[in-house]
Amino acid sequence: MSTITLIDSHAHLTDPRLVSETEDILLRAREAGVGAVVTIASNAGDSERTVALAAAYEGVYATVGIHPHEASTATPEALAEVRDLATRPGVVGIGETGLDFYYDNAPRDAQYASFRAQLKLARELDLPVIVHARSADDEVVSVIREAGWGRGILHCFSGGAALLEAVLELGWYVSFSGVITFPKWDGKELLRSVPLNRLLVETDSPYLAPVPFRGKTNEPGHVRQVAERAAELRGESFEVLAAATAANTRAVYRIG
Ligand code: NI
Repeated sequence: MSTITLIDSHAHLTDPRLVSETEDILLRAREAGVGAVVTIASNAGDSERTVALAAAYEGVYATVGIHPHEASTATPEALAEVRDLATRPGVVGIGETGLDFYYDNAPRDAQYASFRAQLKLARELDLPVIVHARSADDEVVSVIREAGWGRGILHCFSGGAALLEAVLELGWYVSFSGVITFPKWDGKELLRSVPLNRLLVETDSPYLAPVPFRGKTNEPGHVRQVAERAAELRGESFEVLAAATAANTRAVYRIG
């Protein structure tokens, strides 16, 4: 077993492709040196399942919230359910929320309303907010500036320099996924510009499997390949990057 302890800061363990294999997946993660996983919710019903997983498995922590793709489900009742669940043991954040104007799976006004409501909730409960931004850099910057909440994670970073600068200025953390292992990935300069004390790594499992697992179902153990590639691209040692990203993940989520 590896002595290095990585953390997967963002996975969807409740996805049907992963949930039936939870124990094997967590075992393989431990063998890869991954000591903790934050499982991220996509809607109110899913938030009940993330909370249940965190209660059942050591080293698993949960967020509760509603994904921008599912923003149409963010009714007052669903948001009240999320708020209730947020106080349960093992819950470490609100989200994922944000804006996705690439897929536009939910009407934009619903995405804005859901995003603003979850930022407000995160602030009231003193929890970090996990933000997804796709083809909506300027709009995300304006919403998070207006909210002014200093605890947040921009997940699976794929945006531009202005978005990166805005979240760092607010004191947020920036998380990179397996996308950075793809040969044609063009964000190397931005990855290098993130201070080591604000950097996180994630799998976004079951999506975005890194090289050499591309096209397969992703799982938290593969955060190791993300960390190895991040270290290589930044010119840092794997050990230093692994330790720093794990410490940052613990800090932003306040995992003991
Ligand atoms: Ni996600």
